[in-house]
Amino acid sequence: MSTSDKEIVKHISSLFARRWMRFYSRGKLRHDPAFPAAFERIGSSSLPLLDIGCGVGLLAFYLRERGFAPHIVGLDVDGEKIREGQAVAGEHYAGVFLQTGDVSALPEFSGNVAMLDVLHYLPAEVQQRALEDMAKRVATGGWCFIRTTPNDGSWRYRSTQFEEWFARMISWSARPVVVYPTLAQIEACFPAAEFEAEVRPLWGNTPFNSWLLAFRRR
Ligand SMILES: C[S@@+](CC[C@H](N)C(=O)[O-])C[C@H]1O[C@@H](n2cnc3c(N)ncnc32)[C@H](O)[C@@H]1O
Repeated sequence: MSTSDKEIVKHISSLFARRWMRFYSRGKLRHDPAFPAAFERIGSSSLPLLDIGCGVGLLAFYLRERGFAPHIVGLDVDGEKIREGQAVAGEHYAGVFLQTGDVSALPEFSGNVAMLDVLHYLPAEVQQRALEDMAKRVATGGWCFIRTTPNDGSWRYRSTQFEEWFARMISWSARPVVVYPTLAQIEACFPAAEFEAEVRPLWGNTPFNSWLLAFRRR
């Protein structure tokens, strides 16, 4: 990570009011390869971004700090995360709009679309509909990038299954049932006649089966 990237991470994490979130966001931004991977694809795009399941808005803040200028809409079902993110966006990031919303009712949109670590937490029928709705919202020249855990039977897949199972066992609150899609299921929603595809592992330094699926509309 370059010195300027380190400064960006330090700056973004310092903007959160809660100490735990300052700590969490710093680690996440520093070690998660999904953020630079997103920037590599849409950093110079003039199209807006819809970030589905945006959490507190870390992707939006990271892209802004690295110079991505178009407006960004982030939506998430978790109202607390959205409020925490809005407090930062309202004061520091013009054109970043975080709102409570569900993937089952996406707003009208045309541009780039992101969904990081959300798909496998959705029920199977919702996944299929979400993928179709996302594809419709990708403008010509725009990207849709998805990070998820595909069901491919690998040891990394089993390791991710175990981690989710363990998290459910020790969790006080109800955690969503995890339904792992296959790569083929996702790719089928982005036909080759309309999209060029880039599908590759994005494990970072983890034993988990994270993949990046990026589709650019021709
Ligand atoms: C593992 S977090 C990922 C957050 C963020 N994308 C990131 O990479 O930092 C999954 C997020 O998906 C959100 N989520 C789960 N179900 C959703 C739904 N049906 N519609 C919108 N967001 C949802 C959760 O509230 C949570 O913030």
